[in-house]
Amino acid sequence: EMAEKQGYPHFMLKEIHEQPKAVKEAIYGNLKTIEQVAREIAKYEKIFVVAMGTSYYAGIVAKYLLQRLANKTVLVEEASEFRYEFEDIVDKDSLVIAITQSGETADTLAAIKLAKRKGAKVLSVVNVVGSMATRLSNLVIYTHAGPEIGVAATKTYTTQLTVLTMLAIALAKILHTADEDYLKKLERELLELPKYIEAVLGYENKIKSLAEELVDKRDFFYIGRGINVATALEGALKLKEISYIHAEGLSAGELKHGPLALIEEGVPVVAIAPSGKTFDKMISNIQEVNARKGLVISLGDNKELEKVSKIFLKMPKIDELLSPIVYIVPLQLLAYHLAVLRGNDPDKPRNLAKSVTVE
Ligand code: G6P
Repeated sequence: EMAEKQGYPHFMLKEIHEQPKAVKEAIYGNLKTIEQVAREIAKYEKIFVVAMGTSYYAGIVAKYLLQRLANKTVLVEEASEFRYEFEDIVDKDSLVIAITQSGETADTLAAIKLAKRKGAKVLSVVNVVGSMATRLSNLVIYTHAGPEIGVAATKTYTTQLTVLTMLAIALAKILHTADEDYLKKLERELLELPKYIEAVLGYENKIKSLAEELVDKRDFFYIGRGINVATALEGALKLKEISYIHAEGLSAGELKHGPLALIEEGVPVVAIAPSGKTFDKMISNIQEVNARKGLVISLGDNKELEKVSKIFLKMPKIDELLSPIVYIVPLQLLAYHLAVLRGNDPDKPRNLAKSVTVE
């Protein structure tokens, strides 16, 4: 096992550090496939994304990408709900995109089977080659992340996001739903993702000391807007899974509709705030937290953000649509170091399984 960890104390840390390479493989291993898949699904207007856990959050990212770039209306549903609630809605004109790293999650397989029974086209986005999901689906995109041993998903998530971004770009090209220069810019930045991820992995020591500062906190809030609502949800999930600290991820807009009542002096609020459509709104959401003396830890690329934050992590300047792939990495590291400091084994969190094959 020591040899397999290649000098890392845990698989999770090794897998976090493998992300530049994994994302690269996801890109170059899929150049042709994604084009072909995009052509086959371009005509669908009734699109459902089904998944569980971290893969469900990748589904939320997919929804924003498909809406913004390909002008599609997308419903993203937990597979456990879809299988019971969508029987009468899904039909032969539907496209169901199932996201599952293992390809064996019981609820996701049940959703796929329902979709197939109703005559829908099923595309699955999977990491494990030959898994059940791939056998049940009409189309498959592999994430090429390599085996993931740590129970908490890391490199399978960033590679899911990578291939889903490529798919949305490919669709936009076929459908002419986005500005061509903008798509070219996105493609250029996409190829740079491994470098951006490498750069944020360089913050590890800074994040470790941050974890030392936060180790006794009881509750965390993660806020984001737009496509980064998913990053907030996934950042909070990582923390819950391995550090056993209570965490909530939510859209920053929702803050003042309830959760703000829980913000008091010193409560950590992690703000995911790249420059983009709703940046100014995010600043006002952060001010609401500051007014209640919450401890704002922000991730972004903008000086204005630094001014309103207690702790600021400077992120590379990258298009908002690609930012979830880079911004989740420091949050994975934060969860990992908090787990280790609290004496937990991040590879084997209590009560959780790598793949949930029962309902
Ligand atoms: C389990 C794992 C999660 C994972 C979820 C979905 O709960 O602990 O890390 O996100 O299953 O798994 P899948 O293989 O379908 O992506």
